[in-house]
Amino acid sequence: MKVFIYHTPELTPSDHLPDCAVVIDVLRATTTIATALNAGADSVQAFSDLSTLMEISETWSPEKRLRAGERGGATVAGCDMGNSPLDCTPEHVGGKRLFITTTNGTRALQRVEDSASVITGALINRQAVVDYLTHKQPETVWLVGSGWEGGYSLEDTTCAGAIATALKQQTEKIEIGNDEVIAAIALYHYWQDNLLEMFNQSSHGQRLLRLNCHEDLKYCSQIDYTDALPIQKEPSVLIRL
Ligand code: MLT
Repeated sequence: MKVFIYHTPELTPSDHLPDCAVVIDVLRATTTIATALNAGADSVQAFSDLSTLMEISETWSPEKRLRAGERGGATVAGCDMGNSPLDCTPEHVGGKRLFITTTNGTRALQRVEDSASVITGALINRQAVVDYLTHKQPETVWLVGSGWEGGYSLEDTTCAGAIATALKQQTEKIEIGNDEVIAAIALYHYWQDNLLEMFNQSSHGQRLLRLNCHEDLKYCSQIDYTDALPIQKEPSVLIRL
């Protein structure tokens, strides 16, 4: 298994795709997706733009759908919820499809949706990602951070480092594909006992703190909290494995 890390979707090669793409948006899209599926959501469908989300979700009965929209960290008007994982309770999401659009995470998913397999990772389901990769042994793996509007996000690369660290411990059949893997492993080792503090210092963490999302940051910083693994069953639609 040859593992590559890309800090942003824009940095991924444009002429080929991996056997398995792992999309990471720790704050907060992939944390929210894992939480929703863990809480019994039927599925999650991700959209990069709001108008398509509205159009497609309109074809679902209101009892079976939930619309989540976020831009700049804030809830989008007209949606049932924003992008807080804490809103994904069994009462709220159970049995429903979550139609979601976010600033960066859903765009990152779109970028790699034609890969042979696509899963999503966050700190809260890091071990589930590692177990899947160890079991499946895909030949090439891309760990893709969502970043922020084309730029680097500290928390996504730290999470990629957390996944790579555990993978190295769990399987001997891992080959480092690019220097970003070495850097991300070092980054995770630096922050591993202070993940919440890492969020507090990161630019998107600070943006969320200004929006009073302190509890979201605490929740997102819990490593290996759930074994829910979101896997793409058709382009843009994720279910729990
Ligand atoms: C994103 O996709 O950029 C995020 O998940 C933003 C957020 O809601 O915190």
